[in-house]
Amino acid sequence: MTNNISEQIARNLCKENYKIDQNGILHSEYLRDPETLHSKNVWEKIYNFDMDAFKKDRDDFFRSKLEDHINHIRKSYVFNPSSICLEIGSGPAYIGEYIMKEFDSFYAGIDFNYEMLLTVKKYFDQKGFKKYLLIYGDIKNMPVKDNVIDFIYGGGVIEHFPNTGLVLRELYRVLKAGGVSFNSVPCFNFSWIFLRSFANIPSTGAATNGGPSAPIFLKKVFEYIHIGLLKNKILDKFYGYELSFTRNSLRKLHERNGFKDITIGPFACHPSIRKLRNPILRKLYFNVQKSGLTSFFHYVFAKK
Ligand SMILES: C[S@@+](CC[C@H](N)C(=O)[O-])C[C@H]1O[C@@H](n2cnc3c(N)ncnc32)[C@H](O)[C@@H]1O
Repeated sequence: MTNNISEQIARNLCKENYKIDQNGILHSEYLRDPETLHSKNVWEKIYNFDMDAFKKDRDDFFRSKLEDHINHIRKSYVFNPSSICLEIGSGPAYIGEYIMKEFDSFYAGIDFNYEMLLTVKKYFDQKGFKKYLLIYGDIKNMPVKDNVIDFIYGGGVIEHFPNTGLVLRELYRVLKAGGVSFNSVPCFNFSWIFLRSFANIPSTGAATNGGPSAPIFLKKVFEYIHIGLLKNKILDKFYGYELSFTRNSLRKLHERNGFKDITIGPFACHPSIRKLRNPILRKLYFNVQKSGLTSFFHYVFAKK
């Protein structure tokens, strides 16, 4: 079931050719290229749609990680009740819930995992949220009008595309002038060796005068190993196709796609309380991530 505010958000934000289904979720003309379908299959296996498990994961995130996320996000944008926020790859929509609860802002979440959207919809309706819209669609080609969004959040999303520029262009298109895009992505630094080297591809890098830079070369080598030789077997055991970035490559990607006022830093975050309880180890885990050399994720925010 849809509510009047969701319909109003859809009218204001979305291109004309959408429909809202019987569950109140907006559908768009969906890109079904083999690469997107493959990634969709991987993500459908990662998430659990059982409401009890969903709520337990949610409690864990809110207890262990929310404060760290908000501390980083708040550096980038000042929310208010008229802010229009879009979460790309919204999944369980933790940040969406916080934004609605804390600032009463408008929220739209887009994901290609329909079952996940449905679970989030049931949960939001149980909680009585009204100022939101859930969109079943592809981040690379969103059914969203140009220049309508104030703030975009992507938590661990834009690294799952071989062509990051394509996604950044799409984010830039839907943002209003002065709007902010905030993303977190895996780091290509010392942490990569221990945490990701077996299931991650180093970033696209930036072409330098006349020739490919080292990261472009690494990207090709790792793609060849994971996709050409291993046929995605290892990648798909984790998060499917996944890149990691140097600060420099992340900055260049944003610059090339029109963004300005680009800020990049270490996205320090505590571990799940269910996975690591010991307070000394929790502190160590957090402190290791404060340095750009060893952090697991970068945050990057920039303006249109
Ligand atoms: C790491 S999860 C992030 C979930 C959420 N943002 C968070 O912070 O918990 C990545 C999400 O992106 C979604 N996703 C990946 N590629 C997508 C695409 N091309 N179009 C729409 N959603 C996509 C996945 O279904 C998944 O829910």
